Amino acid sequence: MEVISNDTPQGKLIKQIKMAKPSSCSSLYSLFIICSFLLASQFLAYEAKPPVENGLSYSFYSQTCPKLETTVRNHLRKVFTKTNWQAPALLVIFFHDCFVQGCDGSLLLDGNPGERDSPLNRGIAHRALQTIDDIREAVHSECGRVVSCADITVLAARDAVFLSGGPDFAVPLGRRDSLNFSMEEANNLPLPYNITNVTLKTFASKNLDVTDVVALLGAHTIGRAHCHTFYNRLSLLDPNMDKTLAKILNSTCPTTYSRNTFHLDIRTPKVFDNKYYVNLMNHQGLFTCDQDLFIDKRTKGLVEAFALNQTLFFNKFVDGFIRMSQLDVLTGNQGEVRAKCNLINNKKSILTPIVDRIIQLPY
Ligand code: HEM
Repeated sequence: MEVISNDTPQGKLIKQIKMAKPSSCSSLYSLFIICSFLLASQFLAYEAKPPVENGLSYSFYSQTCPKLETTVRNHLRKVFTKTNWQAPALLVIFFHDCFVQGCDGSLLLDGNPGERDSPLNRGIAHRALQTIDDIREAVHSECGRVVSCADITVLAARDAVFLSGGPDFAVPLGRRDSLNFSMEEANNLPLPYNITNVTLKTFASKNLDVTDVVALLGAHTIGRAHCHTFYNRLSLLDPNMDKTLAKILNSTCPTTYSRNTFHLDIRTPKVFDNKYYVNLMNHQGLFTCDQDLFIDKRTKGLVEAFALNQTLFFNKFVDGFIRMSQLDVLTGNQGEVRAKCNLINNKKSILTPIVDRIIQLPY
């Protein structure tokens, strides 16, 4: 039986609260619970906005490239009318760029090997990387080489969220592009079969807290995953997985090597909404790192709050996104503004990874 119905976001939990009989201690108790929940939601909703890092600003290109954001959005509107898989691809590119030596466009660089050759970047779509460079080309022909690929990556992810039905919001800009990349950090990206304790530690190492983690993982409301990323749950017959979902996944993924994919959000896979959390409450999360958020005591309450209140989820997602978008940014005279997103400007310098060892993952 579903915890919160598919069609009504407030769902059965709220219905049950509304249907509670009046004139009893239990109705007073229910009132107390509702008030506490609303109060907690308000506190969560009105926390201070994330600070802006030195060197970044919300109006960074207002003089040098005033139409930047319109150009990015119009370009993506056109792309998304033709394909619907590039929105999630752009969002995951943003995450994998920012988590590896900061939001500096390092993931976009060609290398032999480069960050994209890390096993955890295997699913990164080359066509979406090309879209980032297409936008860069349009922007540079309008304004000259003033806007970095790192900023375009962040703007493209922000627009991917909005154009998929999510919140619209401003992001601080002014990042510069890196001159190098890091295979070692790319190999340390978080793993889908981690439990919450490990996920929280990984994000805490980037100064992202429990609310950021639960909200940012809500990005798994769009997109798809390859069998090998969740096969661990099938082979172990994970008791935390809904039986119907397990059946579908087992037929989609006969082996871990199957090249098939499955939606990250079984309810509304193409819409940026709060159904990801409804899925978790119904044991229909795809990865261990998703479903375990509804088991760990530190994250379970947030999953419930976001499942019941989409606005709260959107507010917290925006905060987390802005925080993550400012991780270890290069600003001022650091780095450069690349003329092409996959290459550093001084073509003579040879790009070598900081560590060129590729770790073989257990899936
Ligand atoms: C503990 C943290 C996370 C883990 C372990 C994780 C893991 C994964 C994995 C394994 C996939 C499937 C890749 C594939 O099969 O090609 C995936 C897809 C995706 N992830 Fe995450 N992720 C995490 C956090 C995030 C965050 C913070 C975001 C963005 C804010 C994000 C956005 C996405 C999106 C949009 C997709 C779908 C990609 C597509 O359809 O092309 N993820 N993630």
